[in-house]
Amino acid sequence: MSKILIVDDEDIIRDMAKEVLAGEGYEVITAGDGRFALSKIEEGGIDLLLTDIKMPEIDGMELIKKAKKLDPNLLSIIMTGYATLETARKAIREGAYDYLLKPFDLIELRMAVSKAFQRRRLEEENARLKQLTGLFEVSQKLSGTIEKDALSNLLLKSAIAQTQAERGGVWLVDESGEMRRAVTIGDNSDLKKMVGKAAQKGRPLSMASDEGKAIFLPLKRGKKVLGVMTLQKGKLGTSFSPGDRELLNLLANQAAVSLENSHLFSNLQDAYLSTIKSLSLLLEANDPYIKGHSQRVTELCLKLSKRFDLEEKDVELLWEAAPLHDIGKIAISNEILHKREKLSPADWEAIKSHPVVADEVLAPIGFLRQARKIVRHHHEREDGKGYPDGLTGEELDLPTKIIIVADAYDAMASDRPYRRRLTKERIIEEFKKGEGSQFAPEVVHIILELLN
Ligand SMILES: [Fe+2]
Repeated sequence: MSKILIVDDEDIIRDMAKEVLAGEGYEVITAGDGRFALSKIEEGGIDLLLTDIKMPEIDGMELIKKAKKLDPNLLSIIMTGYATLETARKAIREGAYDYLLKPFDLIELRMAVSKAFQRRRLEEENARLKQLTGLFEVSQKLSGTIEKDALSNLLLKSAIAQTQAERGGVWLVDESGEMRRAVTIGDNSDLKKMVGKAAQKGRPLSMASDEGKAIFLPLKRGKKVLGVMTLQKGKLGTSFSPGDRELLNLLANQAAVSLENSHLFSNLQDAYLSTIKSLSLLLEANDPYIKGHSQRVTELCLKLSKRFDLEEKDVELLWEAAPLHDIGKIAISNEILHKREKLSPADWEAIKSHPVVADEVLAPIGFLRQARKIVRHHHEREDGKGYPDGLTGEELDLPTKIIIVADAYDAMASDRPYRRRLTKERIIEEFKKGEGSQFAPEVVHIILELLN
């Protein structure tokens, strides 16, 4: 039953309105002044405030303002005479729902109140519909996201937006079974302990502290906990409503499905990668001239990268790219690879395709996206005369420039079907000759230092 509070300093109006509205089935309480009215609003449970404007102490305008602060959802209708009509209009601009011009009859009173409740219902339905549409869009996005960090980010941002939470975080269970923080908004360090507890219990937990109200939702598939999402509203915020919780459960379920897909997908990628690595080993094992080449290039890349004080992520890229840089050679026939006589233009074309083939072979492995670029460009040159894309030194990054030099060094230092390995002196000479045209000068300087 909707509850109405009538505030007027005139007993007659108060009693008349009360009788009419109670007759309509509303629960009605009354107040003779603003102060008493505020104390009633503070107690909560009031849906509509029907107030006079001109009252001693706190007038109607001020009452509405203060009441809105106590309960932002409170509906209000102003009762006013002609003299204060302009004030009533102002009250509407400031958030009152409607006004009743005194003297009003019973029908006008009934109509105004029922109109206000009707409009409120429509607004609520609209808001719910909007929320559902938003939820649908988010859950579609969640199901289309496979990358764990992107998924965590999307989940948290949507959850915060839908519940007006102030801060939160998503923790995921890593391979070793530990909880790892995937994404946080605001400081969440104080919540870590409860995150672990929610994961252990496998059910939602709530916590109220001086900092506000927090909830912890396990991201679960069956009995398996894949992670935990936590959200917090500040000291002054409202707590999480049953609607909030329902919505968060839906989001958490959808995210858990996507997380499980992500696990399956990355297992699939790992399996694919290990197949490729075996292929690469097999390719070199069958060829005495290139046996161990990738391994040696990898080691040299790391040696060089240390001299450059390369960022951790770039060193990692080299770790990923170097062992696989020649994988594209699986598409070249042994006849061409082992030819002792001069290569024909067609043979060259076949050989020059190997960086592009490698790029394609590695494409299904999402996390090698960056490393693939290095693989693709390990035969480019500073002067843009390399292959496959003719990039120049300005377009190549340092890890790529490093692998270009490391690859060339190992090629020169190894026997080939058509020539013996080069002496150290010849190699130094070749690097000096190619400095600035084939090789990046800064990398040449470092390898010459290493060779001397
Ligand atoms: Fe190569």
